[in-house]
Amino acid sequence: MGITPTDVEQEVRSVDIIVSKGNEAGDITYANPIFFKLAGYTQGELIDKPHALIRHPDMPKIIFKYFWDSLKDSKDVYAFVKNLAKDGSFYWIHAHVRVAKNPDGSFRNYVSTRKTMSAGARAVIEPLYARLIVAEESGGMEVSLKVLEEFLASYGGSLETFNDVMTKLQNS
Ligand SMILES: Cc1cc2nc3c(=O)[nH]c(=O)nc-3n(C[C@H](O)[C@H](O)[C@H](O)COP(=O)(O)O)c2cc1C
Repeated sequence: MGITPTDVEQEVRSVDIIVSKGNEAGDITYANPIFFKLAGYTQGELIDKPHALIRHPDMPKIIFKYFWDSLKDSKDVYAFVKNLAKDGSFYWIHAHVRVAKNPDGSFRNYVSTRKTMSAGARAVIEPLYARLIVAEESGGMEVSLKVLEEFLASYGGSLETFNDVMTKLQNS
């Protein structure tokens, strides 16, 4: 939205741990300094705003569908995400997102903890996401889901073991 993506990549260092929290709608309720630094926004520009502000157009819709379906089911998500900074640059991360609950079991917030993505994962995920985008443009989510399922099957997995396949890739 108004930001033109560039091919400038920002480095996420192996020591960086990028944290943010969100409410049920996905709006940012908290983020740590490295989150703001990479995204290129001030705290005032991002707090109470949707996480989708840093959505990169190279991210397939099907990944966010899996992401939200899992969270609504109270399941953790491990996923690779390409994020868009305010200046148009991008950075890849390996995210672990979970639902935090209050002591009485009610919803507290969503918490995402992001780390650098491994080179092995990058080599596989970047072309996969490009294929998913093409599938979405030509055949919609149904075709995209098929491509994703075929990919997971080629790693001996399925949608049910999406997290395991992503973790295996991160460690490759
Ligand atoms: C805790 C939390 C962290 C999130 N982090 C990101 C993120 O780093 N990048 C991103 O594009 N979307 C992130 N999202 C997902 C967004 O809310 C949104 O679903 C996504 O950007 C896709 O945008 P859309 O739903 O408008 O298509 C996060 C959501 C939550 C709840």
